[in-house]
Amino acid sequence: MSISKAASGKISAQSPIEQRLQIEHLLSPAALSSNQIIDGSDVVKGLTQTSKSLPARFFYDDLGSELFEQICELPEYYLTRTETAILQNYAFEIAQMTGSCELVELGSGSSTKTRILLDAYNQLGYPLHYLPIDVSAGILESSAKQLMADYPSLQVHALVSTYELALEQLIPTQLPSRMICFIGSTLGNLMPQECDVFFSQITNALHLGEYFLLGVDLQKAKHLLEAAYNDRQGVTAAFNLNMLEHLNWRFEGNFDTQLFEHWAFYNETRHQIEMHLRSLRSQSIQLRALDLTVEFEAGETILTEISRKFDLKTLQQELSQHSLVPLKTWTDPKQWFGLLLCQLQP
Ligand code: AVI
Repeated sequence: MSISKAASGKISAQSPIEQRLQIEHLLSPAALSSNQIIDGSDVVKGLTQTSKSLPARFFYDDLGSELFEQICELPEYYLTRTETAILQNYAFEIAQMTGSCELVELGSGSSTKTRILLDAYNQLGYPLHYLPIDVSAGILESSAKQLMADYPSLQVHALVSTYELALEQLIPTQLPSRMICFIGSTLGNLMPQECDVFFSQITNALHLGEYFLLGVDLQKAKHLLEAAYNDRQGVTAAFNLNMLEHLNWRFEGNFDTQLFEHWAFYNETRHQIEMHLRSLRSQSIQLRALDLTVEFEAGETILTEISRKFDLKTLQQELSQHSLVPLKTWTDPKQWFGLLLCQLQP
């Protein structure tokens, strides 16, 4: 019998087809749709400061998530296929190094790259225990079911949660070890100080000897980076502009996406792509649900995302300072992307 624990903490029976699936809501559906995740206060804060900004999580409504999947397939967006190739080359070695362990994945999404790891652990005859964490219950359930159809012995315990909450509440694994996976270079979307806090949360969530697998985009020539965030088909532009549609829907706004344009460039001093929306003329925007009116001058921009590009040595040092000792780092032949296996050491 499989179980699903609702927000109330109640456990409910599901169909026998889902015998190996457990979905636990650390965030109640009510909390998700109200203030805890979709809080408008940071929108107000971001749009009322001198340099306007918006939280990047507002990219990901249904259309935004679909556009992101399309970005991952773009010829200019080398990140996904480069990391996939590294995983294909080295997943077996990773599995040999960690031995039998539970795979915990932060921001698991469609779990496509996870399959490469599962294949490696499967090949070595290890039990497959997967703990995906995502704020979207829908994505968690559909991807878990697809995985379970393909891996008949796979046990999935999915957590509908933010990373912070899930990391605080991880229960001990039944397997000899655990590996927290944070792949896809999502680390790059955190500011340096947020990154530091995040590493501390990882350190606190792991027991000594357990593992952290981290995938990051590396510093490289400006033209390659700028092409990846200014694709010729305009998918990244649509992804960026869709944030305004999302805000319109969520906060009764009247942004006109025709009156803004996508602008992304590489800041070589900070080693980060900065993605903005630029107002094409002076205009006044209302977000009625937030009781907010925002004035824009022609040419004024809103920062919607940073995407940091890392230097391996510096990153390895930062990880070590959090007792996350890099055991091995793999890259691709062009050294565009890095995959680091770290271990929590005293
Ligand atoms: C999710 N994250 C790693 C992507 C990145 O490359 O920073 C988000 C993205 N933004 C524009 N394209 C992709």
